[in-house]
Amino acid sequence: MFELWTEKYRPKKLDEVYGQQNTVKRLRAFVSKGSIPNLMFAGMQGTGKTTTALCLVNELFGDKFNFVELNASDERGIETVRIKIKDFARTQPIGKAEFKIILLDEADALTKDAQQALRRTMENYSGTCRFILDCNYSSKLIEPIQSRCVIFRFKPVAKNDVEECVKKIAEKEQLKIDDGAIEQIFGECGGDLRRATNILQACASIDKEISEETVLEVIGKAKSGDIEELLKFALTGKFLESRKKLYNLMIERGVSPDALLKQIYSQIFKLEIEDDEKVRVIKLLADYEFRIVEGSNPLIQVEAFLASLKK
Ligand SMILES: Nc1ncnc2c1ncn2[C@@H]1O[C@H](COP(=O)(O)OP(=O)(O)OP(=O)(O)O)[C@@H](O)[C@H]1O
Ligand SMILES: [Mg+2]
Repeated sequence: MFELWTEKYRPKKLDEVYGQQNTVKRLRAFVSKGSIPNLMFAGMQGTGKTTTALCLVNELFGDKFNFVELNASDERGIETVRIKIKDFARTQPIGKAEFKIILLDEADALTKDAQQALRRTMENYSGTCRFILDCNYSSKLIEPIQSRCVIFRFKPVAKNDVEECVKKIAEKEQLKIDDGAIEQIFGECGGDLRRATNILQACASIDKEISEETVLEVIGKAKSGDIEELLKFALTGKFLESRKKLYNLMIERGVSPDALLKQIYSQIFKLEIEDDEKVRVIKLLADYEFRIVEGSNPLIQVEAFLASLKK
């Protein structure tokens, strides 16, 4: 059966959440008291906001009877808040629980009107209901909602945590993964563990032994050595050779022209050329990148960029 690893390996307990040590520690204090205030989890995607909220509910209640999860961006109007949230909030909690919990994912997608309605609902049902609001930016929520919540900031997951997580999944899935591969996964995910997990799963569908090559294939990037060679050809006026290299990278490796420009950008400073030369290349790169963004044909632009590199 096909299963998404982000679901399969989603932590069930606060202990299993990677990174976010401070947040987890403070949340544990609430768990030991058996009660929580309204919470706001703010931070970039894939850093464990929804996961942590689910773990918290699990540790507080042990079941899901007094819990509902809504996604604000699916139905971003005021009606969602009015109907769904109110319906759930106004009935008494089931069993021994003292309150219910509503997890509102992507709360920053709510319109201002819906946020006003939400604010009133939070006040009206404060006796029986707690909210956990997940969002990317806390500043997108109106001030009165912010002030009704304890705010937790979720950081991009640090390198050693991404590494540990990737290694653990690899072990459970009986994969072999080398350090170069892990390095590439981290570079690509930028602290987003959902992305890291998805890349790993995509790699595993290609090969049980995962190398840097496998990852580069999955994320559609060229090896740094290839980029260096491409630039060297172009800088020394060997345009046809650099063009051949470009086509190789695109056809054999599936690297897109605009992804290539971004990679070139990140590598210019590692090149062994004079500083003035680097400045010149960056300026050219910026021109061509701009044209691509404006809608010009990316392939023609990348070729023109390579052609313009020779002094
Ligand atoms: N801190 C973490 N510890 C362990 N796994 C994580 C962590 N963050 C993300 N993951 C993995 O990524 C998946 C998605 O995480 P989650 O849904 O919690 O992200 P999110 O922060 O809510 O993102 P979004 O802003 O997109 O809603 C999880 O199922 C899990 O596999
Ligand atoms: Mg989420």
